[in-house]
Amino acid sequence: MSALIEFKGFNKFFGEQQVLNGIDLQVNTGEVIVILGPSGCGKSTLLRCLNGLEVAHSGSLNFAGRELLDKGTDWREVRQQIGMVFQSYHLFPHMKVLDNLLLGPLKVQKRDRREARDQAEALLARVGLSDKRDAFPRQLSGGQQQRIAIVRSLCMNPQVMLFDEVTAALDPEMVKEVLEVIQGLAREGMTLLIVTHEMAFARAVADRIVFMDGGRIIEQNPPEIFFTNPQTARAQQFLEKFSYVAALPQTTQIKELEPL
Ligand SMILES: Nc1ncnc2c1ncn2[C@@H]1O[C@H](COP(=O)(O)OP(=O)(O)O)[C@@H](O)[C@H]1O
Ligand SMILES: [Mg+2]
Repeated sequence: MSALIEFKGFNKFFGEQQVLNGIDLQVNTGEVIVILGPSGCGKSTLLRCLNGLEVAHSGSLNFAGRELLDKGTDWREVRQQIGMVFQSYHLFPHMKVLDNLLLGPLKVQKRDRREARDQAEALLARVGLSDKRDAFPRQLSGGQQQRIAIVRSLCMNPQVMLFDEVTAALDPEMVKEVLEVIQGLAREGMTLLIVTHEMAFARAVADRIVFMDGGRIIEQNPPEIFFTNPQTARAQQFLEKFSYVAALPQTTQIKELEPL
C-alpha cells in the first residue's frame, strides 16, 4: 500500500537558512504521528509546507497520489483535504459559532445548507458544545473556542488533520478538553500529524513519534520505544525533563493523565 503522505528529500530554506533538510517521511492512512523536537527545529514549517502555507524548495511531497510541489497544485482545494489547526483559533468574532462553522462548507464547498448544518451540529455535539451553537466566540472560553476551531476544520471533511501546538496558549484546566477531542479523532481512525509539548498526551495518542532537530528527522519510533529507549543522544537529552512519561502505562487515556 502506498503512503497517504510522503515527503522525499524535502528541503526548505528561509533565505540562506535551511530549516528543513532532507526530510523523508511517510504517513499511512489512519496513522497518528506526533512530531517532537526543540523549539526552532522546523516542526511548524513542516506542517505549513504540507498545507501550502510555505513554499518548499526541493524534493518531493506526495499526497494521495499527487505531487504537491508541482506548479499546478490548487492549494485551496488541497487545504480542504488537509485541515490545519493552530495555537490561535481565529474564529470570526462577529459571527455566531454555527455561522463560523458553515462558512467553509457553504462558501468554499458550495454544499447544501441543511446537510452542512446537520454535520456541524453533529460535530458540535461530539465535542460537547451543542449549547454554544448560537454563541459568539467572545462568550466562550479559550478551550471552547479551540474545540470550535477543530470542528470548523472537520466540517470540511478533510482526509488529514494537522495540529500545531493547539493547547499551547490555553490555561492548564482547558488543555485536557481539547486533547480529548484529538484523541477521539485518533480512535476513530483519522490520519493526524500533531505537534505538541504535552508529552504524556504524545505517548498516549501516537502510533509513531517523529523526533526532529536542526531541520532533520533524527529518529522515528513507536512511543513505547521512543520514550523508554530513545536511540540518539539528542533525543535522550530532549527527554530528560520528561522522565515521568516513560513510567506511564501504555494504555493511558487522556482523562487519566494527572497532571498534564
Ligand atoms: N517566516 C520565516 N522567515 C524566516 N525564518 C523563519 C520563518 N519561519 C520560521 N523561521 C525559522 O525557521 C526555523 C524553524 O522554525 P519553526 O518551523 O517555526 O520551528 P518549530 O515549530 O520547530 O519551533 C527557525 O529557525 C525559525 O526561526
Ligand atoms: Mg512551531
